[in-house]
Amino acid sequence: MGLGTVGTGTVQLLLDPIGRQALLEEVEVYQVGVKSPAKPRAVTLPDGVITTKLEDIVSDPAVDIVVELLGGLEPARSLILQAISHGKHIVTANKAVIARYGDEIFTAANAAGVYVMLEAAVGGGIPVIQPLKQSLSVNRITAITGIVNGTTNYILTAMRDRGSDFADVLAEAQKLGYAEADPTADVDGLDAADKIAILASLAFGGRVKLQDVYCEGIRHVSKADIDYAQKLGFVIKLLAIAKKSHPSSPNISLRVHPTLVPQCHPLASINGVYNAILVEGEPIGQVMFFGPGAGAGATASAVVSDILAIAAVLKTDPAKPHSLMSCSHQEYCEKSPMEDLVTRFYARFLTQDHPGVIGKLGTCFGAHRVSLESVVQTGIHDNLAEIVVVTHDVREGDFHASLDEIRTLPAINSIPSLLRVL
Ligand SMILES: NC(=O)c1ccc[n+]([C@@H]2O[C@H](COP(=O)([O-])OP(=O)(O)OC[C@H]3O[C@@H](n4cnc5c(N)ncnc54)[C@H](OP(=O)(O)O)[C@@H]3O)[C@@H](O)[C@H]2O)c1
Repeated sequence: MGLGTVGTGTVQLLLDPIGRQALLEEVEVYQVGVKSPAKPRAVTLPDGVITTKLEDIVSDPAVDIVVELLGGLEPARSLILQAISHGKHIVTANKAVIARYGDEIFTAANAAGVYVMLEAAVGGGIPVIQPLKQSLSVNRITAITGIVNGTTNYILTAMRDRGSDFADVLAEAQKLGYAEADPTADVDGLDAADKIAILASLAFGGRVKLQDVYCEGIRHVSKADIDYAQKLGFVIKLLAIAKKSHPSSPNISLRVHPTLVPQCHPLASINGVYNAILVEGEPIGQVMFFGPGAGAGATASAVVSDILAIAAVLKTDPAKPHSLMSCSHQEYCEKSPMEDLVTRFYARFLTQDHPGVIGKLGTCFGAHRVSLESVVQTGIHDNLAEIVVVTHDVREGDFHASLDEIRTLPAINSIPSLLRVL
């Protein structure tokens, strides 16, 4: 279902099996569901394969695997559920549906004894779902930190490299096709939130409610912050993070926000539309997955690998569920509140150019147990002094309490930026 960017790449791969895994030759593209059958297509399919009757595909007894590449919430969700009720295995690239309706879909799939495979839903072509479910499954995962949205990574990289403003780079990204006409899902962090909800669920072995993911996008990241970050030894990235509060705690923090990443950190060098996901666990330590997070060929690679994984099971013993391929968890993960998050912060203040302002800031921070790693007064603009502060690890609630007090100081004009530091 779906013959757009990913659907076309998927059909092209399935129709060109030579030199790839031999099992590909046993997979037949039986029907392809689309909305506009008259649309010119980049692939040639036998007459009668393309159809608009998606309900017929999901109920046809000859179909073993339904591949959902429609995008959007409906009719994708209903068709997936109908296909499951007819005993079909599912392959999908639809993070939006899985992050919102995964609970309903996996419960139905478990009851029907079918698999729902979603490698392409996170990180495009990067294999990360199967590694979490299989190759890393014996580890106790402590953190997943990812750059999982290519559009925002492209925008932040271009802002840094060219010294451009957010709005200019966004307009250019839209012209180049790297950003949608409505960029909300990308630039406001919603797409990354869907993806970290899926990754967290797999890594921590519990279901995740999307509303538990704290989400902050990149619209407010300014050229000034990118410059200061660079001078202080950081780059700004939109990170999606799922992390245990302590290795032994059941609580996880789930968040998407622009973050100052130390230039020496492996995620700092992931530029442009590329994605990377850093997984930390015991005993493995750190593993990073890097690659193309979108695109027809890359995403099709993940989709078709999932199709083959199901085909392989169907050829051996379809009656016995493969325990590393199905969803085994029913409980919800425990979320830790954002105010209990312990992290470093970067803050930029505009203040009156009076003596003693830095001292007053320091006193307010100290009163709330916020200790400072660096304080830089960067210059005077429009008679206002600009002060940039980086804290040591602090409790988020304490940091905000100190800012509430700082805002009441007569010398403070505004706090234009507030970002977390990895
Ligand atoms: N694009 C990427 O690089 C990428 C990467 C990772 C994951 N994904 C995910 O992959 C999925 C597909 O993305 P895409 O970029 O391939 O989308 P797309 O280019 O917009 O293609 C959507 C396809 O679905 C068909 N379709 C949509 N609504 C339909 C309906 N109601 N009935 C029948 N057919 C319908 C369209 O038919 P017509 O062709 O007739 O209009 C089209 O063929 C999405 O969930 C997306 O999030 C995409």
